Amino acid sequence: MTGNLRVGFIGCGLIGRSHARGVQAAGGADIVAVHDLDPARAAAFATDHGAGPGAVVASAEAVIEAADVVYVCTWTAEHPALVAAVAAAGKPVFCEKPLATSLEAANAMTAAVTRAGVTNQVGLVLRNSPSFRWLQHQATDPGAGPVMNVVFRDDQYLPVQGLYGSTWRADKAKAGAGTLLEHSIHDLDLLRWLMGPIRSVSARMRCLHGLDGIDDQASVLLEAESGAQATLTSVWHDVLSRPSQRRVEVFCQRAVFALEGDWSGPVSAERQPAEGPAGGVESLQGPALGQAAERLDGLGQNPDAAFLDAVRRGGPAYPDFAVALEAHRLADAAYRSAAADGTPVRL
Ligand SMILES: NC(=O)c1ccc[n+]([C@@H]2O[C@H](COP(=O)([O-])OP(=O)(O)OC[C@H]3O[C@@H](n4cnc5c(N)ncnc54)[C@H](O)[C@@H]3O)[C@@H](O)[C@H]2O)c1
Repeated sequence: MTGNLRVGFIGCGLIGRSHARGVQAAGGADIVAVHDLDPARAAAFATDHGAGPGAVVASAEAVIEAADVVYVCTWTAEHPALVAAVAAAGKPVFCEKPLATSLEAANAMTAAVTRAGVTNQVGLVLRNSPSFRWLQHQATDPGAGPVMNVVFRDDQYLPVQGLYGSTWRADKAKAGAGTLLEHSIHDLDLLRWLMGPIRSVSARMRCLHGLDGIDDQASVLLEAESGAQATLTSVWHDVLSRPSQRRVEVFCQRAVFALEGDWSGPVSAERQPAEGPAGGVESLQGPALGQAAERLDGLGQNPDAAFLDAVRRGGPAYPDFAVALEAHRLADAAYRSAAADGTPVRL
């Protein structure tokens, strides 16, 4: 492809705006067509991201027609049909997480983009986080010994308030479920990345807020094929001073890691050397952590720049639908286990 890529957006809310900033920062691309069920939202989005009011179009089909690449940033239940339409047009697609409200639909979407042979990427953006990139590399380094246990806590206020400013996350028909699917699909993906293939999932869940089908408490136990174990606690409370926060501890046989900030650290490491005295605690955060992660994998912190690069190369993007599908398998197993009173589900 030569010249600037023409980018289209379907869904102009919170995360659409985040990707529009990423596209603008990446350069070499222009936002040319945007559509939202709320035309005022689409108009403000177009104006704020250098596209101008002429970029607002009346339908998703018009976005797909006008653009070289399409971002699907609507609430979750709309993703499958929109992705199917982009894939049918043979165009690259970036879809927000979760891919869909069910494993079956996520499976069909992955099959559709694979069949169409289009570059595809999912908004599992913590794969670009310096904190998790550094943690994953250190914890899977043979010098640390095998991963034994992971303690993963993810909490935020019920996201129908505060900066989210929308109510669809309280509606099972639009969101599919609550904290584990809508939010902690990120965490399931990260745990699989840290621990390798998972063989068993058990879970307990509850809906304290009384929203039908919207879990706001989830406790999940994952067992990996390697023998590693993880507990994931995912909570939607009402403490409005706490937007999304994660704390992760990884216990390997000869090293212990702790992650406090899920993008810029701090992340600490305490290692037991093969010989001699223990080395104390090493801690990294901010730009030093960003540089350390960059030296390890060269991945960068802008998922949109990476996606657009992959489109220009005509190659695969990362993380793609196939990666997200594995996280959906874990979420589905967790919901099935919770429905069966915590009985483990074997994968
Ligand atoms: N990757 C992340 O970390 C992250 C963070 C936030 C949200 N998300 C995901 O992004 C998606 C959107 O979340 P949000 O916070 O931006 O929600 P939002 O409510 O801010 O925006 C969603 C927008 O989609 C529009 N919409 C819905 N159906 C549509 C359709 N068929 N055609 C056109 N527009 C449509 C709505 O009018 C709304 O403006 C969800 O799937 C969510 O899980 C991901």
